[in-house]
Amino acid sequence: MSGSLPKECIIGVIGAGTMGSGIAQVAAAAGHPVILHDVAPGAAEAGRARLAKGLEPLVAKSRIPEDEARAIIGRIAISETLPALSPCGLVIEAIVERLEAKQQLFLQLEAVLPETAILATNTSSISVTAIGAALARPQALVGMHFFNPAPVMKLVEVVSGLATDPAVAACIHATAAAWGKKPVHARSTPGFIVNRVARPYYAEALRLVEEGAAPPALVDRLLTAGAGFLMGPFRLMDLIGNDVNAMVTRVTFDAFFGDARYRPSLLQGEYVAAGRLGRKSGRGFYDYAPETDREADAAGLPSAAFSPLACGVKVTGDPVRVRELLSRLAARSVPLQQEGGDGPACLSYGAAQLMLTDGRPATLRAAPGQTGLVVFDLADDYARVCDLAFATQDGAEPRVAADATALLAAAGICGHRIDDTPGLVVARTLAMLVNEACDALLAGIATREEIDTAMRFGLNFPRGPFEWTERLGATIFAAILDGLVSAYGDDRYRASVRLRRLSRQQNSAP
Ligand code: NAI
Repeated sequence: MSGSLPKECIIGVIGAGTMGSGIAQVAAAAGHPVILHDVAPGAAEAGRARLAKGLEPLVAKSRIPEDEARAIIGRIAISETLPALSPCGLVIEAIVERLEAKQQLFLQLEAVLPETAILATNTSSISVTAIGAALARPQALVGMHFFNPAPVMKLVEVVSGLATDPAVAACIHATAAAWGKKPVHARSTPGFIVNRVARPYYAEALRLVEEGAAPPALVDRLLTAGAGFLMGPFRLMDLIGNDVNAMVTRVTFDAFFGDARYRPSLLQGEYVAAGRLGRKSGRGFYDYAPETDREADAAGLPSAAFSPLACGVKVTGDPVRVRELLSRLAARSVPLQQEGGDGPACLSYGAAQLMLTDGRPATLRAAPGQTGLVVFDLADDYARVCDLAFATQDGAEPRVAADATALLAAAGICGHRIDDTPGLVVARTLAMLVNEACDALLAGIATREEIDTAMRFGLNFPRGPFEWTERLGATIFAAILDGLVSAYGDDRYRASVRLRRLSRQQNSAP
């Protein structure tokens, strides 16, 4: 078995719900004959009709020719019985997410399919090894994990259980690529790649709101503006559904024996209990009533205002991490008095001394007697960022925040003062994403490149976690995590040994 499955290979798809009908469309669009089956009478027919309806706007916008849309539908046959799938070379199941149901189905399939047929599961949370344990030919079973909506999202995680034949995984990888997808190999472990590595994106956002650091719309704004995410975590949770998102977190937490990194959020639990599930229920962290939705993002949030400074800015310490910020000030003719020195850069203006967060709150980082320490957030690109969080040490006079705001405004940045929370917003989120990716690498779940590809194409992240370690350096993330541990005393923020090794390796590179 080498290369992708030939086009004449018949693909069986079982379960004609959200995922199954999308997968059937993908296989048919790639030219395969498809047989779609569902246990519920009429469901397969309804699934095919739904996908046909979904193609109509694409035809109307000339994204696909009308005859091609007709050909896709024409290649999808419906079967009300399982034995009719006997000519299939690959059967992908997308039925209910229950271990016993999937095992039962595959046992029935083993009885009707030839020995050469490949069995694939679209499960997002069940161990491929566990499903295979009930089968006579577990070597023929592989995870083929599509993302929703399957015709749109590029990523397919090809998940190998302990018994999966590497040739089977290689064939499914090649087949997914031939279908226009971005496949990655992953080892069967809880959450595979994306659902595991993405957990901190939701978890840290929820914790920030839970602790009163910032409201959801501001957290979303800071992460989209500061790190380039297309959608903030609260918008994304509303889209996924708070119930589904909370369930995935719970499953991951249990699978890792209660590891604090995956601890479910009480706040999200409240939203689920209240029925605020997100878009599908009309209300989640945002309100989706037609008249309120449009402005919800911007409600109450200031935007960048340029203003000149009353005097110059003194810069001490090593400016390497804030170079672009200094360039922006210089470009607006702000006099910079650069004094150099060891240690991280500090920008002093009026009563404020601004430093990039190292994970500790300003209050815990301030030197004895210091009264104006301000910590500001990490940004993917200080040359372009327009919204940035900052926090002042407890007890600072109001003019400290006013001077920090003025300094950032002089660089064309809207400073958003949030509570003096450890690691602020972007710094703590990126550090935790990078850390999770490092731990996934350490556990041999996938390679660096595969993890980066998975996060970019499975969740539309602007960069993969390892791209961030290349861009900003692994050291800063390890330092932020150490700062978070010192502030919270919570095992959740422990740095992965893989992150420390990466940091050492980068620092000792010539
Ligand atoms: P769904 O509820 O929309 O559809 C499931 C379909 O399977 C239903 O039509 C149901 O009648 C049918 N079904 C149930 N038991 C069956 C059986 N024994 N034999 C034949 N058909 C049966 O579910 P959805 O969302 O499409 O999920 C399906 C699978 O895909 C699950 O394993 C889920 O975890 C996984 N998945 C879901 C994603 C999502 O975003 N919805 C993303 C990636 C994976």
